[in-house]
Amino acid sequence: MTTQVRTAIFPVAGLGTRFLPATKATPKELLPVLDTPLIQYAIDEARAAGIERMVFVSHKSKPAIERHVMDDIRLRRELEARGKPQLAEELKEAAFCPKTDDVVFTMQDEPRGLGHAVLCAREHVLDGPVAVILPDDLILGTPCLGEMIEAYDGGHLVSTMAVAAEDVSKYGVLAVTSQQGRITRAHGMVEKPAVEDAPSRLAVIGRYVLDPDIFHALETQAPGAGGEIQLTDAIDAHAMERPISGFRFSGTRFDCGSKSGMLEATLHLAGQDPELAEVLDAYTGNRNHARSAA
Ligand code: UTP
Repeated sequence: MTTQVRTAIFPVAGLGTRFLPATKATPKELLPVLDTPLIQYAIDEARAAGIERMVFVSHKSKPAIERHVMDDIRLRRELEARGKPQLAEELKEAAFCPKTDDVVFTMQDEPRGLGHAVLCAREHVLDGPVAVILPDDLILGTPCLGEMIEAYDGGHLVSTMAVAAEDVSKYGVLAVTSQQGRITRAHGMVEKPAVEDAPSRLAVIGRYVLDPDIFHALETQAPGAGGEIQLTDAIDAHAMERPISGFRFSGTRFDCGSKSGMLEATLHLAGQDPELAEVLDAYTGNRNHARSAA
């Protein structure tokens, strides 16, 4: 059996309730950090990792996601006609071409949880382990999925970071067995534990490389925290047969599913853009960023 990771699954069917009313008509995954939607950062990360097939698990109320990720020839021609060929070229490079790229859109009927969304991708994945990317976990710096795939040595590998004790209840948390360098071996995982029940402070962030057995585990997985079918529970259920490892990634992660994380990510990228230095100075009084480099 191949250990090459050829497929990435993007679960994008959620309701995005923490961002209402912004997400009433605009999918959370299309909210921008500066001028780039979250889903685009995720796609670029999967491409950089050499993924062959991209599977989007979406919802019929979110057609704008497909519109964003696929090439729009009419828009490009319009931009060219208006003397903006470079912008047209940038859009072409970012988008998928239906003729040359291997892209699948499948629908989750109802947002029954991340585990259920991943299960919806089952019939569309290529042989071997699969990657899962949650676009609202934005990881900047060293692309996370690429370094995870390099480190992957079978079983289930999840990206991890240490969080404050008061935050463990927002995450899946690893039950740690041992630690060596960036890799943590674990004997289980718990979704959204109470602080007093958390087995560690090592939280799971939205990047996974999963043994294809995960689909089998998800088929029979009962709803867990929040009444949703949790990916964490399905990984944990077969921990004896499929080892669980955590990977401490090198990039910087922003929780763009929350307003504070989105603001942080925006300030972080604005701080790297000389054109935004003046407005950033005016609001933050911080002069220690890109203007000095300009
Ligand atoms: P989240 O739990 O962060 O997203 O799921 P959400 O449920 O849309 O947001 P809130 O909590 O209500 O604000 C992480 C990712 O998993 C997808 C989401 O679209 C998001 O990209 N997801 C979640 C699904 O595809 N299906 C689901 O049933 C749940």
